[in-house]
Amino acid sequence: MRSAIVGTLIFVNVASAAVCADDIVTIRQADMKAIAAATKSIAGMFKVPSTYSSPEFNWAAELIRDKAGQTLIDHFSSEAASPASKAKPNIIEERDRFDRLANDLKSYAAALAVAAEKNPAVMTDSMRMKPGEPMGGGPLGTHVQSEADLSSIPAEHAFHLMLQTCTTCHVRYRME
Ligand code: HEC
Repeated sequence: MRSAIVGTLIFVNVASAAVCADDIVTIRQADMKAIAAATKSIAGMFKVPSTYSSPEFNWAAELIRDKAGQTLIDHFSSEAASPASKAKPNIIEERDRFDRLANDLKSYAAALAVAAEKNPAVMTDSMRMKPGEPMGGGPLGTHVQSEADLSSIPAEHAFHLMLQTCTTCHVRYRME
């Protein structure tokens, strides 16, 4: 944990300069771990809605949002492969596809953050998926059509689509 924080500070200081490949690997792996912890926290609240806390939910969603999108893209823009990394080299070849997944992650997390702000007291039914609502891509397909469409689906649905985005990206761009 401590090395992750130090790594982040170093990164901030030299953000525009060339960053050593190992540093960037450490940073992006730490970011992924933080994203995973935030995801777990949100999953726990959907599982036991009485544990819902709007500020906590919002904090977790914003953490994911801020580490997704361009931040995530930049962390994988280097061609420098590293033995410490599980990232596959096809990220560079399939730049558009990878970037779209990184941006989808951001859109879903942003929708979750908004849902937390709209529901300050308890996890309302409007946040939950309706019985029989398709878990898969749903009416929108697995790719985000627009932020406006996303805000009209229940937060739990957006959460499941977000989880699919993690899996889709890992299956294609992360080694076993
Ligand atoms: C756009 C692609 C992409 C998305 C989306 C994505 N990941 Fe990852 N993730 C990766 C890649 C690539 C690695 C391997 C990084 C490395 O080793 O350099 C990784 C690594 C990880 C790791 C292992 C970190 C470590 O300690 O080495 C965890 C945990 C993880 N991701 C969780 C998540 C979760 C949870 C989500 C969704 C909320 C998510 N990821 C979304 C691409 C993605």
